[in-house]
Amino acid sequence: MKKSFGFLLATVALTVVSFGVNAQAPTADIPAEMNALMSKYTCIACHRPNQRLVGPAYTDVAKKNYTNEKIVELIYNPVPANWPGYPPMAAMKQVPKEDALKLAVWINSLDGTPGGGSKSSSTKKSSSSSSKTKTTKKA
Ligand code: HEC
Repeated sequence: MKKSFGFLLATVALTVVSFGVNAQAPTADIPAEMNALMSKYTCIACHRPNQRLVGPAYTDVAKKNYTNEKIVELIYNPVPANWPGYPPMAAMKQVPKEDALKLAVWINSLDGTPGGGSKSSSTKKSSSSSSKTKTTKKA
């Protein structure tokens, strides 16, 4: 009896190990470069492209139609009120702007329209500056 118990134990241990391996590679739908950034800055702990984890799925973020710049801003200064029912995300100020922008562009590309980018008019260069300058005016 002792012997089979040992075997059982070994089986359990093996199962646990293989689960551990699986948990590190559930990322088939993440491009290698994004996977590297997501791992480096720990986004991967809370986000998946198509699945709610601690944070919202990136496809759901993409549906909000933020500009890339807005997403970068939200990475640095999350607004938990945008996501009722979720815990607040920690500000990720350690992410260099360049990498944050890469992540933002990719997140925005997940809104179901392959190729992304070509939302409204692509002729206008940047419409994001208009809202920024407004606040500097004094009444
Ligand atoms: C500890 C868990 C955690 C980590 C790590 C994390 N997030 Fe989040 N993220 C959340 C949660 C929870 C929310 C929803 C609540 C909120 O926005 O505060 C969220 C929201 C977001 C949003 C939506 C913002 C909005 O207001 O609509 C984006 C974009 C985002 N995360 C990107 C990232 C990126 C990029 C990283 C890595 C640099 C990252 N997150 C790391 C948990 C996390």
